[in-house]
This record gives sequence, structure tokens and C-alpha cells, in this order.
Amino acid sequence: MEAARRRRREVDCSLLLLAALLLALARGASGWAHGHGGIAAGVVAGAGGERRYRDLATRRMESVRSSFGARRNLATSNTNSRVYHVTDYGADPTGRDDATAAITKAIADAFRRPSNATMTGGIPDLGGAEIHLDGGVYLLKGPLSLPASGGGNFKIHSGSLRASDDFPTDRYLIELSAKAAGGGSSPAMSYYYEYVTLRDLMLDCNHRGGGVSVVDSLRVAVDNLYITHFSTDGVAVTGGHETFIRDTFIGQSMTAGGDPGERSFTGTGIRLDGNDNSVSDVVIFSAATGIMVTGGANSISGVHCYNKATGFGGAGIYLKIPGLTQTWITNSYMDFTSIVAEDPVLLHVSNSFFLGDANVILKSVNGVARGVQIMGNLFNGRGKGVDIVELDGEFKTVEQVYVAQNAAEGMNLRSTAARLAAEGNGSVWTVDFSPMLLFPDRIEHVQYSLVAGGGAFPGHALRNVSGNRVVVATDADVTATVHVLVDQNSS
Ligand SMILES: *[C@@H]1O[C@H](CO)[C@@H](O)[C@H](O)[C@H]1NC(C)=O
Ligand SMILES: *[C@@H]1O[C@H](CO)[C@@H](O)[C@H](O)[C@H]1NC(C)=O
Ligand SMILES: *[C@@H]1O[C@H](CO)[C@@H](O)[C@H](O)[C@H]1NC(C)=O
Repeated sequence: MEAARRRRREVDCSLLLLAALLLALARGASGWAHGHGGIAAGVVAGAGGERRYRDLATRRMESVRSSFGARRNLATSNTNSRVYHVTDYGADPTGRDDATAAITKAIADAFRRPSNATMTGGIPDLGGAEIHLDGGVYLLKGPLSLPASGGGNFKIHSGSLRASDDFPTDRYLIELSAKAAGGGSSPAMSYYYEYVTLRDLMLDCNHRGGGVSVVDSLRVAVDNLYITHFSTDGVAVTGGHETFIRDTFIGQSMTAGGDPGERSFTGTGIRLDGNDNSVSDVVIFSAATGIMVTGGANSISGVHCYNKATGFGGAGIYLKIPGLTQTWITNSYMDFTSIVAEDPVLLHVSNSFFLGDANVILKSVNGVARGVQIMGNLFNGRGKGVDIVELDGEFKTVEQVYVAQNAAEGMNLRSTAARLAAEGNGSVWTVDFSPMLLFPDRIEHVQYSLVAGGGAFPGHALRNVSGNRVVVATDADVTATVHVLVDQNSS
């Protein structure tokens, strides 16, 4: 920064000189006008001189003004500012020349500690340092890896990054990974980055590698990004805590739906291989899998997945954490894309809209479903008999599974509790719940009442509940209506 400071001083001096010159010129010009007033010939000659000097003064003024205009660079490059403009480091904002080294240099400067202050577990506090992309687009031949020394309270924002044609396919445009940066083995540190904000960025992975990788980090915000053309993941979170991915658009292909290449979409929009993360107000518009979750205690809300239709082999949200799901999905829009949960244990899905036969698929691994709430959702299908919640495989352990109060058009409304009434004349009433109960041959709780007609007062009993069919019998032929409530949970 020493060079930049010197440059600024020089310009400050030349500004002073210019100002002095202007003053002198202005005095000279008014002197001419006064001195030659009243003499016709003099006025003509004087007017010519005056015009010449005025033109000169105007030109000088313009030059001063443009000097002031150019001061942005200088003002922000001084040692007191912790905003690092990558163009000051020679990064080409037109995206023609590789900017990896220049931006890496800017990041290295931003990672110089302003003080000895630290954050969680000794992460250096960078005090709010910013890498400013100044609205440019920058070509990257390699990832922007945050230094392995770690750092927090830091931002990268406001521009575009594009992978080059030879960008390594196993890397990400921005990497918060001490390991990837050649470190990550400090016995003193469990986390390397904290409160890092990536904001207002367009990331074009050029079909090579991924967008953002966040490893062993705390409280990272991925905010208002547009991530496209990834071949692996849009955003991948590994380990750490509390990565917030919000107000972000992620798609392998730029499409507004109905893409002719939809069947061949690959990659994953967001990969959460860690816990305590949040995905909110995110659209995933193309990828084979919208969100892949392999860690617990993650919150997903306000997500719109139309990445690759489940009918074409895609999944909207895939919870691949059998026996320890601990995921809650709310207020989301599953647009032809299903939610798949392997052995769901503590899973909540509510207030969401499922379109185009999108549903929730419970996939058996060890046959356990426990603590599952799929409630208060809207389903809209195409009359093909698709269940709103579907079982893939057999579940032996089913406890506290509540699929209830959903509404469906053009799909089968499955639930874990139901009620029906049957009218009849005879001694046996069979009420068939198999079209509506989620789990086959599982009724743990029954309640019925028999209303006999014509003043009859028969003896009656519950005889059988197998195959999700409830059988009630009387000791004599009567005309009666039998009302039945069943629940697939035992309590
Ligand atoms: C930072 O810590 C070092 C080593 O303990 C010390 O020499 C230095 O004065 C400290 N700097 C500030 C700004 O406190
Ligand atoms: C019920 O069945 C009996 C014997 O078949 C018949 O006599 C009676 O009319 C029936 N009642 C009604 C309401 O259908
Ligand atoms: C209940 O009904 C099923 C199917 O009809 C039958 O196989 C089973 O033996 C019945 N159970 C009893 C206790 O009657």
C-alpha cells in the first residue's frame, strides 16, 4: 500500500497546483474584461483573448473534475481502508485475462490482521475487511482459496467470477477450506473461518467444478448469489456450523423450466454435509438433486425446487441420513420434485406446496420411521394415482408418525389416521381403510360406534383389523351405521 499512498500524495499536490493556476487564470480573465471596457477595437481584441482564456479555464476545470473523479481508487487504496478493490491489484474486470493471482493477492492483504482480536477458538478477527469486485467479471483458472491461517469478519461481494476452460473440475470457485489451502491440521483450531459473507455474486462454473465450498466454518453467509453451470455442487458445506444460504438462485443450466435437456441435468444444488445450517428463500432451477442433506439439524424453508422432475429421476430434497434425520422443511415449493427421506427419524414437513405429482417418499434402509410430521401441505397432481406420501420398502418400526391434514387434488391422500362410516343391514360391517392409510396392515388404535336403526339394541364387537380393514359384528341382523376412527400410531 506504500506505493498507493505515495501516488495519492503526488496527486494531492498536483490538485493544489491546478487550483492555484485556476485562481490566477480567473483573476487574469476578469482583469482583461475590466481593462478594455468601452473601447470598440479593444473589446473585439479583448473578447478574443477572454474567450481563449475562458476556454483554457474550462479545460482546466474539466481536468480537475476528472482528477477528482479518478480519486475513488486512491481514496480506497490508502492504508486506512480495509476495502480491497481487486481492480487495484490488476484484476481484469472484463473477464478476458485470468484474475486468480490478482484476487488471491487482494485476499491475502485482507487477511493481514488489523489487530490481535480473535473470534471463536482463536480465528483471527479481520475487522470487517472486504474484497470488492467492483461490478466486474473475473476469469479464474483456479479457485479463490481463503488462506489456511483462517480468518473471520470478512466479505467478498459485488461482481462475477467465471471458471476458465481449464479450471480444475474437482474444485470450487470460492473455497473456505484450510485443507484445500494447504493447512487445516492445526491442533489448536477446530474451525478456520467465521462470519464470512459472500454476497451479491454471480458464479459461473463454466461446467467445471462447483461454486462455493465451505469447510469447518462457522456462521458463513451465502447471500444473494446466482450460481450456474456447476458440474458438481452449487454450494457444498462440510463440517462446521451455521452456514446460512439465503436469497440465492442455483441452477446448472440457465432455464425457466421445461428445458429440453432436463433429463440430463446432473450435479447437486446444495450439499449439506454438516449440521445446524439454514437454507432459506432459495430457488434451485436445475440440477439432478436440489438439496442433498447428509448432516442433521438443518433447517430448510422457502425453497423452490424445480431442478429435475422426479419423473425424470431427479429429487428436490434428498435426506440421506437414515436414523438421524433431524430436518425441518417448511414453506417450500416442490415443483415436480419430491422430498426423499431415508429412514426418517425426526423429520418435519409442513406448509409446503407440491406440484406435478411431487410427493414425499419415505425410503426404508433399516425399516425405521419415528417422529415424522408431514402436515398441513398442499398437493396438486395429474390424476395418475400418485400417493402424497409414498413408501419405498418396508417399515418395521413406526412410531409417532403423523401424516395428517394435508389437502390434495389429483393425488391419493394418504395419512396415518382416518375416519369412515359404513351403513349396512346384517351382522358384519367391514370398513376398508387400505386406500387411505400410509402403512400397510397397520392399525394400532381403533374407536368405533354403532348406531342401530329401528329401535334395535344389538350386542356388537370389533372382530378384526387386519389389512387395514376394520370388521365389526353384531349378535343379530340389524340395520346400522358403524363409525370408525383409526390411527397407525399406538398412542
Ligand atoms: C499483538 O500481540 C503481539 C504479541 O503478543 C504484541 O507484540 C503486539 O503488541 C500486539 N498488538 C496489538 C495491536 O495489541
Ligand atoms: C334388512 O334385511 C332384512 C332381511 O333380509 C329385510 O327384511 C329388511 O327389509 C332389510 N332392511 C333394510 C332397511 O334394508
Ligand atoms: C382377520 O382377517 C384376516 C383376513 O381376512 C384373517 O386372515 C385372520 O385370520 C382374521 N383374524 C381373526 C382373529 O379372525
